[in-house]
Amino acid sequence: MTQQPIIKVQNLKKYFPVKGIFFTKGYVKAVDDVSFEIMRGETFGLVGESGCGKTTVARTILRLIKATSGRVFFEGKDVFKLKGDELLWFRRKAQIMFQDPYSSLNPRMTVFEIIMEPVRFHKIEVGDPEDFVVGLLETVGMNRDHLYRFPHEFSGGQRQRIALARILAMKPEFIVLDEPTSALDVSVHAQILNMLRDLQRERGFTYLFISHDLAVVKYMSHRIAVMYLGKIVEIAPSDKLFEEPLHPYTQALLAALPIPDPEYTRKKPKIEIRGEPPSPINPPPGCRFHPRCPHAMKICKEKEPPLTQVEPGRFVACWLYTGRKG
Ligand SMILES: Nc1ncnc2c1ncn2[C@@H]1O[C@H](COP(=O)(O)OP(=O)(O)OP(=O)(O)O)[C@@H](O)[C@H]1O
Ligand SMILES: [Mg+2]
Repeated sequence: MTQQPIIKVQNLKKYFPVKGIFFTKGYVKAVDDVSFEIMRGETFGLVGESGCGKTTVARTILRLIKATSGRVFFEGKDVFKLKGDELLWFRRKAQIMFQDPYSSLNPRMTVFEIIMEPVRFHKIEVGDPEDFVVGLLETVGMNRDHLYRFPHEFSGGQRQRIALARILAMKPEFIVLDEPTSALDVSVHAQILNMLRDLQRERGFTYLFISHDLAVVKYMSHRIAVMYLGKIVEIAPSDKLFEEPLHPYTQALLAALPIPDPEYTRKKPKIEIRGEPPSPINPPPGCRFHPRCPHAMKICKEKEPPLTQVEPGRFVACWLYTGRKG
């Protein structure tokens, strides 16, 4: 890992309109002013409850959906302004692996066609196509026998391997892993995660790793960002986040973690999240977590806490820490 950012996200917002019969009734503030950087070769974890905006962050960064506002830089280039060849270059270098291995592969294409389709689209020189695809299949733990089979003939784990082979064919640098294993059995899930880690070591990939499962995010990530209702509430190196979670929401997530770690249990903060997450359509004023926070103060109901550096490399958006500067 280097200290050079490959991705910079600045004040990213994505609001989805909620349509009424005659006019727009409001907006789902799925991503609401999010900023972070990912270093080259790093795995940056993004964790939070279902619906907090993780996938929307990923899709907006990759320009699969249009941002409401904000900027994203990839290798110094302004992603939302890319056109023509530069946009094609970005589409190759930045890839995404989706959660659902059943819908991400075209059921009417063979494995060979699935992998070669984007290769032809991007006019990538590969020598003998069959040898090229077999090489990729072997990298992901499959083989020549699988070349001319169709997606329905494979298990969920094998489909994710095929999806990964197709990504590798693009020679990417940055890969979003959006819950890549949450639909798989535990044993398969560990194999895929280990394969992703090995590939990162060998090829220097940068990952944005998305999951609602903190234990998995910890296993994969160098640093972790915790999201709550469209906002990042804390960013920290993985070990620091687990040793001393700062934000009450992070503390609550960790308290709910079912890991039998005696040392951790001793220090486990006694916090439970109360109530359901409020709606991202009309998020509460002030800190969005305040209706569920055991420490909520007057200011938390009135003013939104900014994401502030409290120690080198540690950022938190919570009024409890505003006096603690890094
Ligand atoms: N195309 C869309 N139109 C309208 N609302 C959307 C759209 N996509 C997402 N949303 C809303 O935006 C919010 C964030 O959704 P998103 O899928 O990013 O969450 P997530 O953190 O990835 O959740 P999960 O863990 O369930 O995958 C949710 O309230 C969701 O309903
Ligand atoms: Mg998602």
